[in-house]
Amino acid sequence: MIGRLIGSVCQRVPSSSYRGSLMMKPQVVFVLGGPGAGKGTQCSKIVENYSYTHLSAGDLLRAERAREGSEFGQLIANYIKEGKIVPVEITINLLKKAMEDTMDKDAKKFRFLIDGFPRNEDNLEGWNKVMEGAADVKFVLFFDCGNEVCINRCLERGKSSGRTDDNRESLEKRIQTYLQSTRPIIELYEKHGKVRTIDASRSVDEVFADVKAILDKED
Ligand code: ADP
Ligand code: C5P
Ligand code: MG
Repeated sequence: MIGRLIGSVCQRVPSSSYRGSLMMKPQVVFVLGGPGAGKGTQCSKIVENYSYTHLSAGDLLRAERAREGSEFGQLIANYIKEGKIVPVEITINLLKKAMEDTMDKDAKKFRFLIDGFPRNEDNLEGWNKVMEGAADVKFVLFFDCGNEVCINRCLERGKSSGRTDDNRESLEKRIQTYLQSTRPIIELYEKHGKVRTIDASRSVDEVFADVKAILDKED
């Protein structure tokens, strides 16, 4: 079942909505790794150096949680604290809207780093359902980092982040979710030669040197 999901992601389906128009089809790099692996940090550095727009699924969910009148606020808050993955119907709409808003403002901004997505099978199914044919997934940038390093970075971040999930109890759940739900997605892409793995346990600059080498080769 899960094996079939990726096949469709790899397929290049011409998009009638972009073909023939001046609008470029969005080019997407999925950014994955454990909590605290440095996804956000490295995405910020990529944005400074390359023409990518950074969309963090976690940031979009936190913004929706905080949005006055959101019907999903409480659900998102509960899922985040428990380290669980929010149903994709919510997340995919936030991502799609953010991509559309970006391209509506500036059609040249068609390259996206989608950080923290797809994190489980439900996420991937939702992507395929809504975005397949409308965007090309180029590859997955995988920040590989040991669990202990990840936990310690998040605990350190928790001293100032104000995040409800940067505490030991939530982190243990987040690591379990990562191992049980996200790693299989990364492995699925790996089987299709779509994963670029980086040792993310090193310094920010050392990690970014590898990121640059990958992006320079891919572009
Ligand atoms: P993620 O988005 O993967 O959860 P972040 O980029 O937010 O991770 O980084 C988590 C914490 O670790 C932040 O406080 C960040 O400053 C710090 N950090 C990020 N990359 C490194 C690194 N290579 N070495 C040490 N600390 C890092
Ligand atoms: O990526 P980040 O660490 O910001 O994600 C924080 C939390 O947001 C996750 O632990 C999860 O509860 C939620 N999330 C989600 N689905 C995603 C990305 C994040 O439910 N695709
Ligand atoms: Mg992050």
